[in-house]
Amino acid sequence: MQTVESDAPRYDATTIYLHWATAILVALQWLGAQVIDLLPRGPLRIDARSLHIVGGLLLAGLIVGRIIWRLRWGRRLSPDGTRLLALAAKSVHYGLYLLLIGMVVAGVALTWVRGDSIFNVFAIPAYDPGNRALVKQVQGIHETIGNLILVFVGLHVAAALLHHYFWRDRVLARMSHPRSHSELK
Ligand code: HEM
Ligand code: HEM
Repeated sequence: MQTVESDAPRYDATTIYLHWATAILVALQWLGAQVIDLLPRGPLRIDARSLHIVGGLLLAGLIVGRIIWRLRWGRRLSPDGTRLLALAAKSVHYGLYLLLIGMVVAGVALTWVRGDSIFNVFAIPAYDPGNRALVKQVQGIHETIGNLILVFVGLHVAAALLHHYFWRDRVLARMSHPRSHSELK
């Protein structure tokens, strides 16, 4: 019934926009990182890495904004389903927040220990020049957290699709644009 559907709880618009902006930026960061590795050493590669770093800082701002929004004004809905499923959903959601924060911290640390040139304009000196082992270590941490994010996002997306297509509930709709297709039917 239309009235019941449109009265059903949903996330506020800001939470929805922040969620999808984060998702898009994380995907772009992942794709951008693959491009860096494909490019030959030189100005193009420096530009690609600079974009990755600038995108990373943008993501950091988004995540901080999102967490503040959630704590102060954002609508928080309890997970759907049995207690066990709700616990799994909560763990994946908090896991994603922690991994995203870890990714930003590791990325900033990597930029700092490695030293960099931002668009060939602005130089960031290496923390300990010549210390390749340190760079490799921080790079490994950044990469490992990245792989964990892939796993968590995979579980998260699988759950969202199960909710939508298998259990046919409103979990995906409540995180979609205010006035989603499923509600207009
Ligand atoms: C969710 C966000 C992010 C994802 C998915 C991501 C992903 C990646 C991946 C997969 C790599 C390649 C690792 C390797 O093969 O060594 C990489 C490298 C790198 N990332 Fe990120 N990253 C993210 C955020 C950041 C942030 C916030 C910063 C810094 C502000 C950053 C700075 C770097 C740097 C400097 C490299 C090294 C590039 C190179 O070795 O040429 N990343 N990132
Ligand atoms: C990098 C990609 C993504 C990240 C980092 C991410 C992160 C998150 C986080 C942290 C939450 C918890 C919100 C909260 O309660 O504070 C959430 C909720 C949600 N996400 Fe994602 N998400 C991503 C991609 C996606 C995709 C692609 C879909 C759909 C196919 C999706 C569907 C949902 C839904 C439906 C919820 C609400 C769950 C509920 O109300 O119980 N997410 N997401």
